[in-house]
Amino acid sequence: MENFNEMYRSKLTTADELAGRFENGWFVGMDIGTSQAPGIMTALANRARKENLTGLHVTSIMDSYPFEFYTDPDLNGKINGMSWFVSAAGRKAVNAGTADFIPNYYRDIPRHIRNNHHYDVACIEVAPMDKHGYFSLSAVGSGVEAMLEKADRIFVEVNNCNPRVLNGTHIHISRIDAIIEYNHELPVIAPPVIDSVSEAIGSRIAEQVPDGACIQLGIGAIPDATGLALRGKHDLGIHTEMFTDSMVSLIECGAVNNSKKEINRYKSVTTFAFGSKRIYDYIDDNPAIAILPVDYVNEPAVIARHSNFISINAALEVDLLGQVCAESVGSRQISGTGGQVDYVRGACMSPGGKSFIAFSATAKNGTISKIKSSLTPGAVVTTSKNDVDYIVTEFGIAHLRGESAASRARQLIAIAAPEYRDELAFEAKQRGLMI
Ligand code: COA
Repeated sequence: MENFNEMYRSKLTTADELAGRFENGWFVGMDIGTSQAPGIMTALANRARKENLTGLHVTSIMDSYPFEFYTDPDLNGKINGMSWFVSAAGRKAVNAGTADFIPNYYRDIPRHIRNNHHYDVACIEVAPMDKHGYFSLSAVGSGVEAMLEKADRIFVEVNNCNPRVLNGTHIHISRIDAIIEYNHELPVIAPPVIDSVSEAIGSRIAEQVPDGACIQLGIGAIPDATGLALRGKHDLGIHTEMFTDSMVSLIECGAVNNSKKEINRYKSVTTFAFGSKRIYDYIDDNPAIAILPVDYVNEPAVIARHSNFISINAALEVDLLGQVCAESVGSRQISGTGGQVDYVRGACMSPGGKSFIAFSATAKNGTISKIKSSLTPGAVVTTSKNDVDYIVTEFGIAHLRGESAASRARQLIAIAAPEYRDELAFEAKQRGLMI
């Protein structure tokens, strides 16, 4: 420990001094959630505003902080963002053309990094060093290991609010080039507002989930509402991309015990945990959770090793063939593909598994039907018609996988909001669908 403490002291510096080490044109890597480095990024933005720093790019996944390289127009050309998943922080910049994004399936990010990327520096936030000289990457598995392998330098910010995750990613002090200390509360997000429509959809899906199933819940109010509707179940397991607040509830009430999982039995498995202090307290020093790299967690073949795998994800619109758009409203990018397709495929390959794409039948106070004859021009397909399985709204459930085009159109029209059904049927006939 003596030696590790000395190494720590020799690498310790200030955020401003560290920002001074960045050079023009550097490719900077960050990952997701609590592993992002807000202290280093703020100091870098301050330096870039004062000095003639140009051509830096920062990659990141789902952003947990309102980074200035997205929000400050004065930094355009000096530091630009490049997102693997267009989340709220970067959405405006991506749509304005001052930030770039990289289309991908989340499970492939480590492979893309290892094959195509090279970082001048990787910036990460970690929990304090342990007696063996290791820092826990805390709530994040994701693509961090690949990013650290492909980085010329590793700059670390130590935050004593970060939990230590036993079954997770750790980095040794000997691999680190520089350290700053930046203690701050971890980011929390307001829990989604669960209205009566989300509750109704959640209850419909819960009826389809057998005891002993293994679950993944995606992003948004409906996956969360479904989580809450599963509280009466028994022996559920968790294998998921994002570990959420509703999952802590399911563990605490005894619905989840992971006892029926074929792999990683008695452990909840995720690739990142994010969102509330309750989650961060739960994962701290807890042997019952494993936070592992995304190329393992989101790999469909791994997901499919669990029988009765149930995945629940949201969408923005669906056409009558069952093409799912979960990323854009027309050509305006709202998010990335994330793990949606990974889980749709994995669940459908699992014995007894089912994948649910669920959404309220309308948007904007009932003025827009999310079930459309054709996707809005510019909309991108997230889950293809060949992968899609179940679609759920507050009006019912459609099972599309293996069904004909006519059967899909009929079923989808039946679960659209009633005021849109005639129009959809008319458009379906015009498209030549045999409804
Ligand atoms: N037309 C126009 N606007 C629409 C719309 C449509 N068809 N559907 C939704 N919207 C609007 C909503 O009104 C809302 O607007 P607001 O922010 O002004 O209220 C906004 O788009 C978001 O819609 P909402 O239904 O609240 O979305 P959500 O928070 O439940 O998130 C996704 C939905 C699809 C963006 C989210 O699930 C996602 O990022 N998915 C892709 C990745 C993924 O599935 N990952 C899963 C593995 S974790």
